[in-house]
Parts: sequence; C-alpha cells; structure tokens
Amino acid sequence: MTAPIDLRSDTVTKPSPGMRRAMADAEVGDDVLDGDPTTRRLEERIAELLGTEDALFFPSGTQANQTGIALVTEHGTELLLEANAHLVLYELAGVAALAGLQIRPITTPDGLLTPALVRGAIRAPSPHVPRVTALAIENTHNVAGGRVLDAAAIDGLIRVARNAGLAVHLDGARLWNAAVAAGVTPARLAQGADTVMVSISKALGCPVGSCLGFRKDRRARAWEIRKRLGGGMRQSGILAAAGLYALDHNLDRIVEDHENAKRFAELLTDSQTVRPSGPQSNIVMVDLQGDGVTAEAAAAQLAPAGVRLSPYGPRRLRAVTHLDVSRADVERAARIILDTLR
Ligand SMILES: Cc1ncc(COP(=O)(O)O)c(C=O)c1O
Repeated sequence: MTAPIDLRSDTVTKPSPGMRRAMADAEVGDDVLDGDPTTRRLEERIAELLGTEDALFFPSGTQANQTGIALVTEHGTELLLEANAHLVLYELAGVAALAGLQIRPITTPDGLLTPALVRGAIRAPSPHVPRVTALAIENTHNVAGGRVLDAAAIDGLIRVARNAGLAVHLDGARLWNAAVAAGVTPARLAQGADTVMVSISKALGCPVGSCLGFRKDRRARAWEIRKRLGGGMRQSGILAAAGLYALDHNLDRIVEDHENAKRFAELLTDSQTVRPSGPQSNIVMVDLQGDGVTAEAAAAQLAPAGVRLSPYGPRRLRAVTHLDVSRADVERAARIILDTLR
C-alpha cells in the first residue's frame, strides 16, 4: 500500500539523504558555551538574505517570534496584529505570558492588514489607554490561506507604524513563499522591520529551526531572552547544517510548490462537493459544500483513502504543498478528494 499524500502542513517534510549527510558531517562546537561554527554560518547567511545586520538561530518559529516581540516592546503596553495571526491563535498567549503585552487584534476580511486598518487601531495618546509599542505582520498569512503582502503593501504598513513610533515585528515563517509569490527578494519584504522571523522547517524542508533577524546591537539581548526561554542549543550545527543545505538546494524550487497548489485548486474547482480558495502561495483552503460532513469527519474519511488534510474550521480543510509532494501527488490527491467526498 502506498503512503498517504500528506498535505496537512509543509512541516511534515522528512530530511532528504543529502540533507542528512550534511547534518552528519557538520562541524560543531558548543553554541551556548563559546559558539558553534556551523550555526554562526547559518545565522550570517540568513541575516544576509533578510537584509538584517545580524540573526540568531532558534529551535522553533514560536520561540523566535516571542523573542522578537519581547525584544522590541515594553511590558504593560499594547501590540497590534491581525486578528487571525499565528501570534494570536497558536502561541498559547505567549505575548501576554512572556512579554507582558496586551494584544489589540485588527479584524480584516482576508488576513491582510492595510495602512488604514492599522491607523484606525492606533488610539490617541491618553493617560487612560495603554501605549502601543509595536505592530506584528504575518507574511504569508497562514490562516488566511497563504495570502501574500507584496512590497508596496509592506511599505505602507511600515510607514504607518513609523509615523506612530511603533516597532515592527515580521512573522515570516513563510517569508520564502511570500518572496517567490511577490517576485522580490526576502530582504525586500523584510525591509523596514525591526525583527524578522523566518523558518527553515517549513518551505525549506529542514527538521528543526527558525532564525530571527535584527540590528547588531540587539544580539546580546536576543541571546539573553532565547536562553531564558530554554532555547540555548549546544551542538546546534547539526541542525544549522540542514539549513545551509536547504538554502543551497531547496530555495529555488519553492515556485514548484506554488504551481502544485494552483494545479490542486484547479482540479477541485467546478465541484459540487468542495470549493478551493485560489492559492497565492503553497496553501489551499478547501471549503466543504452542501449539508454534508464536518471538516473533522471529512479528514477522517480522506486519510484511509490516501490523502491527509488538516481541519481548519467546522467546514474548512487546509492543504499545503511542499518539498515531499509532486505534481502527480497533488493531482492524485484531488481525484481522491472528489471521489471520497462526493
Ligand atoms: C505563520 C506562522 N508563524 C509561526 C509559526 C511557528 O513556528 P513553529 O511551529 O516552528 O513554532 C508557524 C507554524 O506553523 C506559522 O505558521
């Protein structure tokens, strides 16, 4: 029996033989004690790609996000972000618990913040309202179906934030995808942000890791926050080597994931059973039509039929294309979905 086509997330990829070899061969040190040379190489390479002065390697995007936010905000102030941002929905109230912030969520029709919406959320200074210290932006936006903020949209948001004296944190877990979709470099989409998180464990196919980019003079403080959160890693070069390998081998092929997502959505269009939302990157949201089953039940039916999707709402499933699924896989997955749910 063939393995199910796993479209639950782009985090399900397994390290390739080449990546495993690079990891096995990595030169390592003790990154908490006095540094790990391969980790440092990855940090420098990522900083260059993000256009930031420096970067630090983290075990997860969540920890890098939390460190980035803590780095540029002040305890007891407000953080503006889109209402369905990962930082709001999936980080266990970390910004409240760790950085001591109140979240001010901004509702959008499509996950995309606009300058007008951000401006509208900034209240006039008053002794009665909390000060706002930062704006967080997510690009691509996961819950909105991998939607992309292009360079002009980012510039507009940065301008509003700067005019209001706010710091900007970019959750770029899928910044690689955003850059490919927008036709610009990751650095262009990170331009103007104070802290930039980017994952290597998603589009790039690494087993573990994210980086946070920032100004050089913030490194010591970022290191301290990471250490406090338990993110100091010793022979982390084994993980960083996967990142260096991925930047050499897996960055330029991300466009294939976007084409596969489009093909998958095309094959599901014109069906009475499901309605896909037009993908802008590697995520396709699939809405169940008619009065049939719930998303949970549909996912449970699809798994033994050979396709794994994530329930993302009562009647919505998420499909994510990645390094470990081919054009033929997504075509077969679409056929299985139509046959099974019909
Ligand atoms: C937009 C976004 N930000 C942050 C994260 C957190 O990354 P990690 O799972 O590595 O903690 C994710 C993970 O899916 C994500 O989708």
